[in-house]
Amino acid sequence: MGGCSSFVKDAEVKEYTAKALEALKVLEDESGAGNDFLGWKHLPTQTPESLITDCEAIRDDWKGKGVDLVVVIGIGGSYLGAKCALEALSHNFSKQLSTKKDAPEIVFAGNNLSEEYISELMDLVQERNVACVVISKSGTTTEPAVAFRIIKQYIETRYGKAEAANRIVAVTDAKRGALKSLSTQEGYRTFVIEDNVGGRFSVLTPVGILPIVLGGFDIRAMLKGAAEMEAACAVASEENPALQYAAMRNLLYAEYGKKIEILVSFNPKFQYLGEWWKQLYGESEGKDGKGIFPASVLFTTDLHSMGQYIQDGERMLMETVVTVEKASRSVIIKSDEQNLDGLNFLAGKHVEECNAMAELGTKLAHIDGGVPQLGVSVEKIDEYNLGQLFYFFEKACGISAYILGVNPFNQPGVEAYKKNMFALLNKPGYEAQGEELRKRL
Ligand code: PA5
Repeated sequence: MGGCSSFVKDAEVKEYTAKALEALKVLEDESGAGNDFLGWKHLPTQTPESLITDCEAIRDDWKGKGVDLVVVIGIGGSYLGAKCALEALSHNFSKQLSTKKDAPEIVFAGNNLSEEYISELMDLVQERNVACVVISKSGTTTEPAVAFRIIKQYIETRYGKAEAANRIVAVTDAKRGALKSLSTQEGYRTFVIEDNVGGRFSVLTPVGILPIVLGGFDIRAMLKGAAEMEAACAVASEENPALQYAAMRNLLYAEYGKKIEILVSFNPKFQYLGEWWKQLYGESEGKDGKGIFPASVLFTTDLHSMGQYIQDGERMLMETVVTVEKASRSVIIKSDEQNLDGLNFLAGKHVEECNAMAELGTKLAHIDGGVPQLGVSVEKIDEYNLGQLFYFFEKACGISAYILGVNPFNQPGVEAYKKNMFALLNKPGYEAQGEELRKRL
């Protein structure tokens, strides 16, 4: 956390480290608010091998049928972890490359209510050999339910009802919800999201594991990375990385008015790491009139859009930079005899060296501009390191929310829009509210 040292005092760091140690103890003792939602803590070490082999069996079954497109339906925590992993681990141009991977393409639906999105998705499914994974813990969320009704009807019409049951898998609660009862009735294969794991902490449950396995990635390596981080983040010491991060971001928020935290990456593969992280922290901490507002940028791209504000705008920002130490590919900039572009000073350097200098240069510039820098680094982008990041940010989120004094595991604020939407759509039971709302429009 060297990028913060010029902003904070040693005594404050001690004070917030002590608060973080206390919060960690509450999380470890399971004595805090929302303590019935702590099942995520031991997922890396307690995930049964049978869960992975069950996911692999579906992968192999669908491969045998020639499935080349899997529609994964879900929203929020039932979507962002898998999307983040698949984006991070896939070739940037996998869709355009002629050499296709030996895995179906995964597309996501049910994360919006755009009619254009769903109808254009239907254009795609008609051209492809399709299967579907529908994910909803509650089994009642409107966005995925609408998308699933449409895709289910399409798959049944095209392949017949019996075959549809082989091409649809549900991930949901063990007992409750419309998706559970529908799956039982239709005879779908199902995976359970345990009661004690909330959506945004569920990437290492079947919610994330099944799409990651279907995408052809190494879930065992991801769980191994997460398991090592589980051990490192359980230690009651100042060395605990999750504790350090949670302490510093709370110190900057509470004592220095840094109300917005921007997650920064210099690698486009981490765009959805930012989206996943925003949901994790936004839904966990933004309540009771409190909480750091999470934002994300991709540099150097956004240095040419948000860079101006970050450097010079209102001083309420802190940044957390996720550094990737090693690129997995190599491109060296060559010398050019004419040097018309004046770039020969870069000849012989890797593009990634330019990226690394951009990262360091930005760090120093933003510190000079009054933006403290927190840092997280991974050796490279792969399953193992992604598993580490997932667990690190989850554990830090739990500690951080307890320092802030909120329950990290509920999301009461999400209900407000749902009630209004149901009322405006005339859902039975919401008639009176609908009338009231319409008067206000
Ligand atoms: O983190 C959460 O709990 C939420 O973002 C949920 O994941 C999201 O609302 C989707 O819920 P469900 O899986 O019940 O459809």
